[in-house]
Amino acid sequence: MVPLKNLHTFGFDTLAQHLVEVHTKDDLVSVFQGLKTKQFYLLGEGSNSIFLEDFAGTIVLNKLKGIQVHENENEVGLSVGSGESWHDLVEYTLSIGAYGFENLALIPGTVGGAPIQNIGAYGVEIEKFIASVEYYDIHLNSFHILNHQDCHFVYRDSIFKHQLFNKAVITKVNFILPKNNRVEHSYAPLNQLVEPTPIDIFNKVIEVRTEKLPNPKVLGNAGSFFKNPVVTNKVLNEIKMRYTSVPHYKVSHTSVKIPAAWLIDQLGFKGKMYLGVKCHERQPLVLVNIGSGNGRGLLMLARQIKQDVSNAFNIELENEVRLVGKNGVIDL
Ligand code: FAD
Ligand code: EPU
Repeated sequence: MVPLKNLHTFGFDTLAQHLVEVHTKDDLVSVFQGLKTKQFYLLGEGSNSIFLEDFAGTIVLNKLKGIQVHENENEVGLSVGSGESWHDLVEYTLSIGAYGFENLALIPGTVGGAPIQNIGAYGVEIEKFIASVEYYDIHLNSFHILNHQDCHFVYRDSIFKHQLFNKAVITKVNFILPKNNRVEHSYAPLNQLVEPTPIDIFNKVIEVRTEKLPNPKVLGNAGSFFKNPVVTNKVLNEIKMRYTSVPHYKVSHTSVKIPAAWLIDQLGFKGKMYLGVKCHERQPLVLVNIGSGNGRGLLMLARQIKQDVSNAFNIELENEVRLVGKNGVIDL
């Protein structure tokens, strides 16, 4: 049995039956030839996965490394092994004067994890810079390239969570950073900066994130537990009748995004705890493991939040985080 405590940022004391590390494409092929129909879970840095209980299968741990840079007059192209650290890549690109990733500083995880849910923060989603994604098709035993439009990127979602879930292992991500990229600072609090450089954005994002989000090395967590819901104007207007100042952001003519943190905050969940799993006092969208937490506590708290939000606001929250049970991913 293999301990999972240090392999996922929520840090539950759970085990997996086996673990294999994948360092090369050849490793990948032989691991999946060996696994055949056996149960597996692909793991990067475990910052969006919570192992609720012991997993009765094999963890396939991604260690595919390597960064290739190719540059022309207009852009910097990067082909990056999916096991590289995302934040290290952000720092590396800034060090070579290639800009665009700065808003996404300090997001934990691997480069291969980034396209799965189209990571986003402070006004930028990674899809903006993804030209294509290389993956290994487990069923077909062959490597393929998916162009940007075929990845079906939207807010916190992509084809890798649906048709290609448990079928594709992302091996490489190909990025393009245009040299004329405009610094994005329309999102609060970056909008307070005057003519910021990409380095100013990088520093500010790190400052804000360090202040707002609990550090998983100190307090186990997986970032935002739920997605921010997109609702119709009708639902918004119903909420406005009771809460005139409900925060919301326009998504289309007929829909808006409401911060899930606000919904959870209104219902008084901040600081509420079940079996060592707590709703964070500063950012209620983040659930934390105070050290002694377990999967049962997490499910109790998350289900209570979901139920109460549904009853109070007629909004169905969706979890952003992947919940892994004995036999793989489960629904909330
Ligand atoms: P894992 O948790 O290891 O895997 C996530 C999912 O992807 C799993 O289903 C796994 O099977 C699958 N997967 C992993 N690697 C591969 C691969 N190579 N091929 C195919 N499938 C794969 N996210 C944001 O978008 N914005 C944020 O601002 C943000 N902030 C965060 C802050 C904190 C403190 C934490 C803990 C998390 C935060 N996250 C954020 C969530 C998380 O960091 C991202 O989702 C990250 O991209 C996950 O990468 P990972 O390697 O850790 O994924
Ligand atoms: N709010 C409250 N009470 C609180 C905290 C926040 O009501 O105690 C409300 C406020 O209205 C605030 C709003 O929630 O303006 C938004 O809060 P915040 O700026 O902290 O952002 P978020 O919506 O909680 C999202 C992403 C984060 C990303 C930040 C910055 C999702 C699910 N989460 O958080 O991503 O880093 O914006 O762009 O979209 C992640 O996905 O794991 C993640 C951390």
